[in-house]
Amino acid sequence: MKAILCTEWGGPEKLRLGDIAPPSPGPGEITIDVKAAGVNFADTVIIQGTYQLKPDFPFVPGLEVAGTVAELGEGVDTVSIGDRVVGIPNIGAFAERVAVKAAAVVLIPDAMDFETAASFAVAYSTSHMALGYRAGLKAGETLMVFGAAGGVGLTAVEIGKIMGAEVIACAGTRKKLDLCAARGADHVIDYGEEDIRERVREITGGKGADVIYDPVGGAAFDAAMRSIAWEGRIVVIGFASGDFNQARTNILLVKNIQVMGFYWGSYSVHRPSAIGVSMTELIRMWEAGRIEPHISRVLPLERTGDALALMMDRKSTGKMVLTVGT
Ligand SMILES: NC(=O)c1ccc[n+]([C@@H]2O[C@H](COP(=O)([O-])OP(=O)(O)OC[C@H]3O[C@@H](n4cnc5c(N)ncnc54)[C@H](OP(=O)(O)O)[C@@H]3O)[C@@H](O)[C@H]2O)c1
Repeated sequence: MKAILCTEWGGPEKLRLGDIAPPSPGPGEITIDVKAAGVNFADTVIIQGTYQLKPDFPFVPGLEVAGTVAELGEGVDTVSIGDRVVGIPNIGAFAERVAVKAAAVVLIPDAMDFETAASFAVAYSTSHMALGYRAGLKAGETLMVFGAAGGVGLTAVEIGKIMGAEVIACAGTRKKLDLCAARGADHVIDYGEEDIRERVREITGGKGADVIYDPVGGAAFDAAMRSIAWEGRIVVIGFASGDFNQARTNILLVKNIQVMGFYWGSYSVHRPSAIGVSMTELIRMWEAGRIEPHISRVLPLERTGDALALMMDRKSTGKMVLTVGT
């Protein structure tokens, strides 16, 4: 089968399209004939050898996939051959076929096309669970989102609005901020040009943001610590800036704030039922027309390197999707 191969650590330019044997499903696994694969920031990190998971070479990157069930491994009775599904393998999605644990597979509605499905689960469920289940965002609170035009950021803007929050979107260009406003953000801040703390004080009448969703880290996290309200919650989602921070405990104490981590992937190990509940609710929201992934680019599998390069250069918005066999 055709697959994108990572044979050494490095940038997207090191990836190449190759021919390898298709995977077989192990016990508790299925294989999926891939129709579309979602691009995630983690794909740009795993190929550089700086992700928590370091697969042996050669490996196929890609963690989010939509397609049809091809084969069932021993003990699998939750799906049938031919079912249309979304799957979250840790690696392997950028290929014609991928093996994935049946527990990490969700059936998709007939009306949802594969490109939409491949861009749906990680981004929406991360924001839905992080804001609701983890941070306890309440209607009427102020939510500030960093990297707000990116994959997870834009879904946080949409979900925050659905949960009844007043949403402040922060991003690096006017075009990205316009997209956030079109997706419902009440206020926008260009964090390349404007002082975040000053603008948040202005918007909130001096109070600060109740919840801050941070997939960026670095200077953005430091700004979050300065802009959070008394009893506020900062949710650490990721480190797109490449920088990790230290939260000063004197600020936690004086402002009565919480800094909490949220890692969606760990729920499939520790509490899969929470992902199931979130996905069921999100699919219902999609069927009701309340959410719709913003897919900024659809590229064929052989252009995986280009897609990852765009993401690393901060040139993508919403989700990018790779298509297979179309
Ligand atoms: N915790 C979880 O469960 C979970 C789930 C999914 C993703 N994540 C993490 O969340 C982060 C964002 O993922 P994503 O898929 O949304 O990526 P994305 O679409 O590339 O969005 C990242 C955003 O970060 C901003 N950014 C700031 N500095 C950057 C830099 N040096 N390089 C690239 N982008 C930079 C960019 O917006 P501006 O240009 O506007 O600043 C960009 O839109 C990643 O760290 C990812 O690993 C975590």
